[in-house]
Amino acid sequence: MTEVPVAVIPGDGVGPEVVAATVPVLRAAAALEGASLAITELAWGAGYFRSTGAAMPPDGPEVIKSYAATLFGAVGQPGVPDHELVWGLIIGLRQALDLAVNLRPVHSWPGVPTPLRDADGTDILIVRENIEGEYTGVGGRVYPGTVRELGLEVAVHSRPVIARAAHCAFAAARERRGQLALVTKSNAMRHGYTLWDTVVEEVAAGYPDISFERVLVDAMAARLVQQPRSLDVVLASNLFGDILSDLAAVLAGGLGMAPSGNVLPGSQPAIFEPVHGSAPDIAGQGVANPVACLLSGAMLLDHVGLRTAATAVRHAVGMALSDPALHTPDLGGTGTTQQLADAVRAALEAAPAAGEKG
Ligand code: NAI
Ligand code: MG
Repeated sequence: MTEVPVAVIPGDGVGPEVVAATVPVLRAAAALEGASLAITELAWGAGYFRSTGAAMPPDGPEVIKSYAATLFGAVGQPGVPDHELVWGLIIGLRQALDLAVNLRPVHSWPGVPTPLRDADGTDILIVRENIEGEYTGVGGRVYPGTVRELGLEVAVHSRPVIARAAHCAFAAARERRGQLALVTKSNAMRHGYTLWDTVVEEVAAGYPDISFERVLVDAMAARLVQQPRSLDVVLASNLFGDILSDLAAVLAGGLGMAPSGNVLPGSQPAIFEPVHGSAPDIAGQGVANPVACLLSGAMLLDHVGLRTAATAVRHAVGMALSDPALHTPDLGGTGTTQQLADAVRAALEAAPAAGEKG
């Protein structure tokens, strides 16, 4: 039996709840393919920060490198400075491991309500540049506490990092419906985002089979709501990708439905995580929607080569979601995290062959 080494960082708030609901489903799915997951749990996050002053150990990135893939829940706990945890853990890992892109697929699920009158058939992949842009930490604060206090947040955009994100997005478009929309704000931000336009147009020339368009970020926000079916792959910088993917997640039923993967194409370590945070407002109640984490787990299975298992998880999620009685409160139902995850597992084990369709 193939054994795949996987790390799990449950983190804080609803993170441990959705991860605990997901792991048995992933184990059952891997078994369908004759594989097993050798899971190591890493207790990093707010608790680790409270006892050590850091969200993870200094060799955290090296530890993650020794696993084929990592499943991460979420960080964030009231009382602990957010930037210490988000920077100290997930952004820190993305940068240290050079995880070039954050892949955020969004698609509508039959039977799952959304705020749109008709979001059926939405199927979008947001490819978000993951280590530069507005999130590099370049900048500073001066004159603290005075009337002229000043904060500088410098956006960093470089040719190689834009180019590799673009290659990843075009390659993904080739596997999908052959369309790519680049999101910038190059009309108003004339340096970094015009570089994006230049570099992505150069990369586009190597993919003549892909239909390519440029869309400004404000127009894209409107289009995601008005015409979500007109979009296939959306390539965006770190900040724009972050914001647009929360908006897009709502098209699929909300943050509880949105998975993601931090990957460096062609490289082994990768971190899969729900798009949502630690949701302290619902933590501890057992009602967090586990779907975002389950679908992140399916992306993890794809990444480690267990494609049949990944397809089976997605299919089983679809089966479970077709029963409104299982929907968690964010979807308007009264189901619990555990009930929904148990139904996914039951669907998986009842119909492994049906996974081929999913
Ligand atoms: P959030 O994503 O945690 O919550 C936003 C809203 O969505 C809340 O109403 C929450 O109840 C709901 N929600 C989130 N996940 C859900 C789920 N699985 N099921 C049902 N409802 C769900 O974002 P927020 O409130 O801005 O941040 C809370 C904490 O999480 C902060 O400390 C923040 O820094 C952190 N955070 C961490 C992230 C990460 O670990 N990658 C990403 C985003 C935020
Ligand atoms: Mg976000």
